[in-house]
Amino acid sequence: MNDSLTVRDNRTGQEYDVPIENGAVRGADLGKIKDGEGSPLAVYDPGFVNTASCKSAVTYIDGDQGILEYRGYPIEQLAEKSTFLEVAYLLVHGELPTKTQYETWVHDITYHTFVHENVKSFMEGFRYDAHPMGMLLASVGALSTFYPDARDINDDEIRQLQIVRMIAKMPTLGAWSFRHAQGKPFVYPDNELGYTANFLSMLFKMSEDRFAADERLVKALDVLFILHADHEQNCSTNAVRSIGSSQVDPYSAVAGGVAALYGPLHGGANEAVLRMLRRIGKKENVSDFIDGVKNGDERLMGFGHRVYKNYDPRAKIIKKACDDVFEVTGVNPLLEIAMELEKIALEDDYFVSRKLYPNVDFYSGLIYEAFQFPPEMFTVLFAIGRTPGWLAQWLELVQDKEQKIARPKQIYTGHRTLEFTPASERWA
Ligand code: ACO
Repeated sequence: MNDSLTVRDNRTGQEYDVPIENGAVRGADLGKIKDGEGSPLAVYDPGFVNTASCKSAVTYIDGDQGILEYRGYPIEQLAEKSTFLEVAYLLVHGELPTKTQYETWVHDITYHTFVHENVKSFMEGFRYDAHPMGMLLASVGALSTFYPDARDINDDEIRQLQIVRMIAKMPTLGAWSFRHAQGKPFVYPDNELGYTANFLSMLFKMSEDRFAADERLVKALDVLFILHADHEQNCSTNAVRSIGSSQVDPYSAVAGGVAALYGPLHGGANEAVLRMLRRIGKKENVSDFIDGVKNGDERLMGFGHRVYKNYDPRAKIIKKACDDVFEVTGVNPLLEIAMELEKIALEDDYFVSRKLYPNVDFYSGLIYEAFQFPPEMFTVLFAIGRTPGWLAQWLELVQDKEQKIARPKQIYTGHRTLEFTPASERWA
């Protein structure tokens, strides 16, 4: 088989042989195809629906089969048998840790959970009703001013230190954003607790000596972090890579990732699922609601995915985690409606023929609500989970010799060479 594409440019009659590598042609090779005036051919691809921006060895997705793997390990096995910090190590370092490597990693992350006291004063300065995601994004970006050494992105030791710092400090910043909105004092990290138990302590501790979260809740949240840890070139990861390509420090790049995640099309669908379930109100109304979806009057939130054309593997795991959480917190009454919706939709030709299956957001909002998180916190939780993925992708980017500053082309549609008349004459 000849791995190339033969293209005939009908504008000039010229033929070109464009090499195909890894199932892709290089945009620069297409640029060698020129019109009669010498202008290179470009690819127009809003939303990058069919453009690979990088080579990556971090995460593999097969949307038709419903497969998700981090560094080659299936998500189901990681969720069942690993921990979030081990998965974070795997994503960042590319391999599972030895016992010593794991212990050092956990120790280092545990001992970097504290933030400078000035970060605390800075966060206290937000308005009383500030959105926690806005607070998180600003404070992650602000960390760059506390660690100016982070600008040396070519030094591996310095890079690794920032990675540890960021994975460690995200729960502190996330929990403090939550406490601020509640008017409660910030809780300092407790180095005797594991990563996720410590996060729950910083969120919910009041006057007790130590906040002892139920182990089943700790495990469920840890699993949710694992499920969100990476998802290859999604909107926020693309933002981190794009910003990182300017060789800025990783705090600024990750702040850009948090900003991208803040948007409702990316991190906010689980909140929309909860609103939808509340609107449906009871199991008996499900069938009418489904009719509304089929008539095009409604959208079944938490269903469908740009990449997955099969059951999202993360949704299956979350559904199982629901049982563990509800055993502790009591069943969320909306669960019954969600399960009925899923049952009907999975049997209905409208959804089957369009390959619409539950995605990660269909059940995650129900779990977060059971933890008593307000909806504004859902994306903060997502950001904490996604941080190791952003950093693994950033590390890959800064070490990739093929990468350049991200600078897409445009197709200019505006005016040209207009004559400027000064305001004093135009308004006379
Ligand atoms: N409910 C009803 N119909 C749907 C849904 C849905 N949730 N999703 C897609 N469809 C229909 C579309 O109307 C379209 O039908 P048509 O062929 O008759 O016009 C067909 O299925 C294909 O849908 P597209 O919109 O082309 O699919 P796309 O890949 O662009 O959209 C998306 C994917 C945005 C996720 C969509 O399925 C959706 O809006 N889902 C609900 C929101 C949601 O749950 N988002 C979370 C995604 S997961 C995440 O981001 C972490």
